[in-house]
Amino acid sequence: MSLFILALCMCTATMTYASPADDWCYTGCDHTPTKWPELAGTYCGGHRQSPINIASSSAVTDPELHAFTFTNFTAQHAVGVLVNNGHTVKGKVVPGHLEVSGGGLNHTYEVLQFHLHWGDTELHPGSEHMLNDRRYPMEMHIVCQKKGLNQSQALMDPTGFAVLAFFISATEEGLQKPWQDLTSYLGNITSAGSEVNVSHSLSISDLLGEVNRTKFYRYMGSLTTPGCQEAVIWTVFQEPILVHTDLIKLFPSKAHLSNLYRPIQELHGRHVYASPAATLVGQEHAWCYDSHCHFSPDLWSTLPEAFCGGKQQSPVDIDSKEVKENSSLEDFTFTHFDDKKALKYVTNTGHTVKFVLNDGVELSRGGLGHVYSALQFHFHWGDESDHPKGSEHMVNSVRYPMEMHIVHKRKDLSIEEAKTTKDGLAVLGFFIEATDGGKGKNAGTESDHASGTSSTTDYWTKLTSYLPAVQTVGSNTSVTEDMSLDDLLGDVDRSSFYRYMGSLTTPTCNEAVVWTVFKQPIKIDKKLVGLCVCVCVCVCVCVCVCVCVCVCVCVCVCVCVCVCVFYSTPYRFTATSHTPLRLSVKKTFKGDILYHQV
Ligand SMILES: *[C@@H]1O[C@H](CO)[C@@H](O)[C@H](O)[C@H]1NC(C)=O
Ligand SMILES: *[C@@H]1O[C@H](CO)[C@@H](O)[C@H](O)[C@H]1NC(C)=O
Ligand SMILES: *[C@@H]1O[C@H](CO)[C@@H](O)[C@H](O)[C@H]1NC(C)=O
Ligand SMILES: *[C@@H]1O[C@H](CO)[C@@H](O)[C@H](O)[C@H]1NC(C)=O
Ligand SMILES: *[C@@H]1O[C@H](CO)[C@@H](O)[C@H](O)[C@H]1NC(C)=O
Ligand SMILES: *[C@@H]1O[C@H](CO)[C@@H](O)[C@H](O)[C@H]1NC(C)=O
Ligand SMILES: *[C@@H]1O[C@H](CO)[C@@H](O)[C@H](O)[C@H]1NC(C)=O
Ligand SMILES: *[C@@H]1O[C@H](CO)[C@@H](O)[C@H](O)[C@H]1NC(C)=O
Ligand SMILES: [Zn+2]
Ligand SMILES: [Zn+2]
Repeated sequence: MSLFILALCMCTATMTYASPADDWCYTGCDHTPTKWPELAGTYCGGHRQSPINIASSSAVTDPELHAFTFTNFTAQHAVGVLVNNGHTVKGKVVPGHLEVSGGGLNHTYEVLQFHLHWGDTELHPGSEHMLNDRRYPMEMHIVCQKKGLNQSQALMDPTGFAVLAFFISATEEGLQKPWQDLTSYLGNITSAGSEVNVSHSLSISDLLGEVNRTKFYRYMGSLTTPGCQEAVIWTVFQEPILVHTDLIKLFPSKAHLSNLYRPIQELHGRHVYASPAATLVGQEHAWCYDSHCHFSPDLWSTLPEAFCGGKQQSPVDIDSKEVKENSSLEDFTFTHFDDKKALKYVTNTGHTVKFVLNDGVELSRGGLGHVYSALQFHFHWGDESDHPKGSEHMVNSVRYPMEMHIVHKRKDLSIEEAKTTKDGLAVLGFFIEATDGGKGKNAGTESDHASGTSSTTDYWTKLTSYLPAVQTVGSNTSVTEDMSLDDLLGDVDRSSFYRYMGSLTTPTCNEAVVWTVFKQPIKIDKKLVGLCVCVCVCVCVCVCVCVCVCVCVCVCVCVCVCVCVFYSTPYRFTATSHTPLRLSVKKTFKGDILYHQV
């Protein structure tokens, strides 16, 4: 009995001897990452933990994240000692020489050490952070402490540390000298607690190589090992350091440590910011009109920094019986709408086809109360069906084949200011209807109207001739032909329009738009919207009666069977993989829709 008590005492003694913060591991012990929160005195169960998955599509660009100042990063012999501490391989930096400031940090931080996170021998990736759900083979952390604080003070300060994180990617090309030098020491520190003096001339910049240090993501987090103190300003660089595959393999094999990474932690409402230079990979695909992307229209309201769930959203269904006639909506003044050089270039935004305008085209009066500058026009259209219905607005629940939006901003505001001002933007919406060329029903009776339509069609033919050049997302081409907005709008009655206060119809859906929807549609040739090709097979039976040898009268009866195929080349407005149409706001507008008719 006394022997048992003795054994128990010895056991307790050895357990309390180990400091609690050291009693953890990644695999193969009692306190693997999911158990870290149970360790006494740690913060591992907190709501500001690291690492995280960085979804660049939801990162918010922060103009304050300008370039860093790296002091003495090129100093040779900066790496003094390399240590295997049982959790990682750490390079101790000569104290007090290397510093980091700028990059949106509000203080100067002193570089203490760098260390690495990796996977296992099979090159199973082992970065801690993930970028767009991708884990890189390795990750390097350069740990910096706020200047003027000691370690215990820094651990208690929410901005006590700044950690610079670099992904490491495996390449088959060339052995980089600095990484070759560094890994040459791994054989000297194969056991936990061993260390080696580094004699090679090696700077931190040598190890970082070609990485563009202006492209980075920023968020507030924690140490990624116990006690997980929430004291870290994280900077995760977008571009990885490229290191040869063979050198990456040396870390797990020589240091006898593997899978040194903590699993991804919840954001708990935190934002990730991006420096202006960082490419927000995939952001162009973040939202779309159908279900091929993350944010389909019914999820637009969950987009970060967007207003798509607001109360004054567009488009709307205009109930013409409910509109109020309003005499304060006088005629518009269209300035330089007749400028034949107004169209600058056309681009495929991935969501629509946009024609960007030169400066000088302006809009005023029409009840707007301000002068607005025209920026661009673009289109909304439907699918490839025979009767495409792709206007965004509807009148009495009727949708037109297409809709053209001419976007203006208040002349006295910058574009950023305009987006946050109630009447900062003015959009003119024109419905587009397909007709059978110039030979419409009215051709005989209204000859003026008919000729107007056919010359409008000529300009639309010119306009659509630019579409083949913008087949890919991001492509653009300059508009060289003479064409004014008046030419495209033709003889549409511009004095008869609906007016309401609404929003942009695409994310970020800012409620900053004075909408003008014209009652009369622009009529353009059907073949510019889509084309029907018919093949007919006819069988005819004729009966002839000959009176004399030379005079015959024949009566023929033909039966024809026609097969019509709706044909549209990819550059017609109808053909597109995305339908640039916001259908989610279908409800009839409840507020005031004003109507102006002379
Ligand atoms: C940078 O390194 C040089 C030489 O090692 C040293 O004299 C200088 O003080 C260092 N700068 C800082 C800010 O530590
Ligand atoms: C730096 O200070 C600004 C202004 O007080 C603040 O908005 C920003 O969050 C601070 N940045 C960090 C990394 O603490
Ligand atoms: C850190 O600084 C504080 C305040 O100056 C002091 O009380 C504390 O003992 C210091 N801690 C260490 C570990 O030096
Ligand atoms: C590292 O190990 C190698 C071979 O075991 C040995 O030759 C070398 O001297 C060691 N280097 C240091 C700095 O201890
Ligand atoms: C590293 O160098 C220092 C002297 O600069 C020496 O005291 C120490 O023993 C060396 N350590 C190793 C592991 O060789
Ligand atoms: C880093 O990227 C920015 C933006 O793409 C570019 O302007 C800059 O020249 C790049 N810097 C280096 C050193 O490549
Ligand atoms: C006409 O519209 C203006 C706003 O554009 C509004 O202030 C005015 O009250 C309206 N008048 C009538 C009669 O509805
Ligand atoms: C048009 O595209 C080219 C390259 O494809 C690009 O250099 C240029 O900046 C683009 N122009 C505009 C106005 O977007
Ligand atoms: Zn780390
Ligand atoms: Zn639009």
